[in-house]
Amino acid sequence: MDKKLRSAVIAGNWKMNKTPAEASALIGEMIPLVKDADCDVVLCVPFVDLDAAMNAAKGSNIKIGAQNCHFEKSGAFTGEISADMLSSMGVEYVIVGHSERRTYFGDTDVTVGKRLKAALDAGLVGILCVGEYLEQRKQGITAELCAMQVKIALQGLTAEKLKNVIIAYEPVWAIGTGETATSDQAEEVCAVIRETVEAMFGKASADAITIQYGGSMNAKNADELLSKYNVDGGLIGGASLKAADFAAIVSAASK
Ligand code: 13P
Repeated sequence: MDKKLRSAVIAGNWKMNKTPAEASALIGEMIPLVKDADCDVVLCVPFVDLDAAMNAAKGSNIKIGAQNCHFEKSGAFTGEISADMLSSMGVEYVIVGHSERRTYFGDTDVTVGKRLKAALDAGLVGILCVGEYLEQRKQGITAELCAMQVKIALQGLTAEKLKNVIIAYEPVWAIGTGETATSDQAEEVCAVIRETVEAMFGKASADAITIQYGGSMNAKNADELLSKYNVDGGLIGGASLKAADFAAIVSAASK
């Protein structure tokens, strides 16, 4: 399988940053810098920024996503947003299972799987995040843990539904710390993730799925990380808040 045949996807995760006005301004700055990208470009913004972000990105190659969705269609879930609500407003992508959601808001492998299924049923592309804590890496259980997270989240999906899934490998110790996984570490776990998908859905599905690396990816290290066979893109936190830095990563993925 030629890696080039898979979709390369660079997605920004803005986390809890930017007001709607700031979102519009930043997207306006990014549009000319990423317009020639030879990869998919996505920005996952806070819920309240979605409308402004979609308006600002209109007519450009930037697609807009959210950072979470609930698994029920509606109901008594104060503070939550359903996948249908997102798709009804034209949102195309949603992150599920980010480690910050797992760590601070009680998301589990099972509820992450439910959120992913709801996202796919609503016609969204789901970006499923998996990854180990430093302690778990030291214990030597990274491969098993990431495989388990993937297996539980993808349980019960059809190969057809899987076409709308992106998996992001994000080692928790590399998120926001400036400490990036080496390209070999990223490749090793992304390969395990692809093998896990193959065992569940077969080789064609495994060959086709986009697997991103996330965790302190920046303009300097993107080239090296993205050169790896099983690393098809990036999920970018801090560097996605700066137009030039994000654009440099998009360029690295476009080679
Ligand atoms: P940083 O790029 O800031 O390390 O964040 C990565 C991340 O969590 C993306 O989802």
